[in-house]
Amino acid sequence: MDTTLPALRKLRGRHFLTDLDYSREELEDLLRLAANLKALWKKRPLTPFLPGQHLAMIFEAASTRTRVSFENGFAELGGNALYLRPGEIHLPGRESIADTARTLSQYNSAIEIRSKKNETVDELAQWSTVPVINGMDHDRHPCQSMSDAFTILEHAGTLAGVTFAYVGDAAHPCNSLSTTLTKLGLNVRVGNAAGYEMAPELATLAAGFAAESGGSFLLTNDPLEAIAGADFIYTDCWWWTGQEDEYKDRIAAFKPFQVNRDFWGHTKPGARFMHCLPAMRGEEVTDDVADGEASIIFPQAQNRMHFQKALMLALIGVDELPADPDLQPIGKALLS
Ligand code: CP
Repeated sequence: MDTTLPALRKLRGRHFLTDLDYSREELEDLLRLAANLKALWKKRPLTPFLPGQHLAMIFEAASTRTRVSFENGFAELGGNALYLRPGEIHLPGRESIADTARTLSQYNSAIEIRSKKNETVDELAQWSTVPVINGMDHDRHPCQSMSDAFTILEHAGTLAGVTFAYVGDAAHPCNSLSTTLTKLGLNVRVGNAAGYEMAPELATLAAGFAAESGGSFLLTNDPLEAIAGADFIYTDCWWWTGQEDEYKDRIAAFKPFQVNRDFWGHTKPGARFMHCLPAMRGEEVTDDVADGEASIIFPQAQNRMHFQKALMLALIGVDELPADPDLQPIGKALLS
């Protein structure tokens, strides 16, 4: 994909709740900005496009990557991020989502939220007067899927025509990856265990996006069929907090989906291994693959920050061209 900087002002003020709200061209524009920001970051990490601005980060659930990549990324953009946990603010319980959104909008340029419920994220956005970014909810993880698209772009040099396979549980990354990547023109092959498949309406959406973009979409219960010919193989945890009662059933159902040395023997030569992390090593992936030559899991984690910096910058925008000459090419794109 050509990484020439696009005109970005059109994205200013938007929320980012799901990739479904963005056109293919808009998603590609965000990837182009991420590529430009990362190139600048390699030269100089501190790029103060947003000096003196604030980001509110609400986390109703634990996070390592999302919290740190947003917080450090916003600091690198010259701003300050606030980590807000239940028990420290009045949400949930003592204050409504609407009042929280309207209050936080008084002091912040954007609000990032990780919630256990899609409805909380959507209602916060409904009332907020500043951009709201979904840092993962019950079904969606669009920052992850777009950061992963950026990682694939970096490694493959292109997106259209690349074959991507996801094997394992149909949780948030699987959902968002299926729609994001089919929209961007990839061939997406999803292997979910029987009884744990992604929602049929989401599979239909992904197939429709693939038909429009020139990609393809496959949903199968056979993990080896899913990874056939794939350039990138991705997996995620088999169970989540709150599913402890299902643990034994899930381990049994997903056992054939474990990405281990034998499984890797069925992959296309040169294929890369991806995982959004955290990994439950010994369950969905073994150490020899996670730490093997094909693994790109830690550069993938780093790219969360580069993509999210691009996202925050595009949604918040700038009012004037930065005086710093290094920042001016991106500043011009943000203003045009
Ligand atoms: N991949 C991801 O969202 O990681 P965290 O849960 O650590 O934020």
